[in-house]
Amino acid sequence: MVAVSIKEIVGRLCFNSRGQETIEVDVKAGDCLGRAMAPAGASVGRFEAQNFPKGGVREALRLLKEYSTRLIGLDASDPKALTSALRRIDGTPNYSKIGGAVAYAVSMAAAEAAALHLKKPLYSLISPKVEPKLPFPLGNFIGGGKHAGPGAPDIQELLACPVGAKRIEDALRANIVVHSEARRLIEKNQPLFAGGKGDEGAWAANLGNEEALMVAAEAVTAASDKIGFRIRLGVDFAATSLWNEKEGVYVYARSAKKLSPEEQIQFVAELKDRFDLFYLEDPLHEDAFEDFYELSKSVKDALIVGDDLLVTNTSRLQTALSKRSCNGAILKVNQAGSLGDALEFAELATANNIVLTTSHRSGDTTDSHISHIAVATGSKMIKTGIMGGERVAKLNELLRINERISLESGSEASMASLPYV
Ligand code: PGA
Ligand code: ZN
Repeated sequence: MVAVSIKEIVGRLCFNSRGQETIEVDVKAGDCLGRAMAPAGASVGRFEAQNFPKGGVREALRLLKEYSTRLIGLDASDPKALTSALRRIDGTPNYSKIGGAVAYAVSMAAAEAAALHLKKPLYSLISPKVEPKLPFPLGNFIGGGKHAGPGAPDIQELLACPVGAKRIEDALRANIVVHSEARRLIEKNQPLFAGGKGDEGAWAANLGNEEALMVAAEAVTAASDKIGFRIRLGVDFAATSLWNEKEGVYVYARSAKKLSPEEQIQFVAELKDRFDLFYLEDPLHEDAFEDFYELSKSVKDALIVGDDLLVTNTSRLQTALSKRSCNGAILKVNQAGSLGDALEFAELATANNIVLTTSHRSGDTTDSHISHIAVATGSKMIKTGIMGGERVAKLNELLRINERISLESGSEASMASLPYV
């Protein structure tokens, strides 16, 4: 690979989709400019990279200015070398000195600049040897938890995946139909539903947990009938947000119930059967490696996915592998910190047959780099919402990637092969 030398790095304050301050970074490398803005979560795992240093965005920008000279001259086309340099500058295990947002934006902008300079799409710069396949969109269409108000379900996300789609365009259209069918069904029972949405563009409705699942299952079936292929339902419990460590229970405020870990495992397994769920993300809290294994024993034909459990961190993935906690993992570059950290995680996951789903954050931006990350890492799905400019930006990028692949190979890109569907 030709080295694409970094010439200049400039950071600025911007706002994310939730209106929170974040940073954007411009990296000039070769004769091109790459640009990336850091996203932010709301249900943030305790073990994630720390997004900003003490002192917030301004301190992050000050540190970026102070240390950027140490990055000048490095090869923008080598994410892992850049990660080593960022880690040396930071010197902490979780980027708490410079902030994960700096690591994210610098590494993503550098990769973009290198791809532009080398006239390659970002996915093929990152993963030149792999035959690119398109991930299935996994779209949040009824939301709750930390992404919505107290009237919404405790469960964070009800997710649709158009598993029967043969083409990306059809897959994206199917999720849009699910989203609108869900509104129709909510309004059937609640004529005064005001059409509110949560942080990720999913409907934020006054629904109990099981009520929301019933509406979601009906919406998926109705959309499936309209569109003519199978759409499956998944759930992100974001159970760390439900977990009360002191009492040792999962608290469902909407249903006024508290479940012990054993009861939670049973509840999740029951919901899986009742609603034919194929995807169960964070069904248990972020330290429950053993309970994840207990659930895996009783749930055979579904993806059990670690998000807050793994936080895109290789050593937490090692723990999960040794305890056989899950068969799926969320990949969020900003949880890991830099692009190179996330790629290392993806390699370990893939080598161990862990199914990857690349994911957005609830406070996101109109950037679309993660669509390329999903393709480059062989992610089977991309979880990036259905509605809202910052969500659709990533979905539309999948169409551009498909167009590029079609031009190069003479036929549309194949969809990834998903297990358990
Ligand atoms: P977050 O939510 O971005 O608020 O962490 C997304 C998720 O939990 O998957
Ligand atoms: Zn999650």
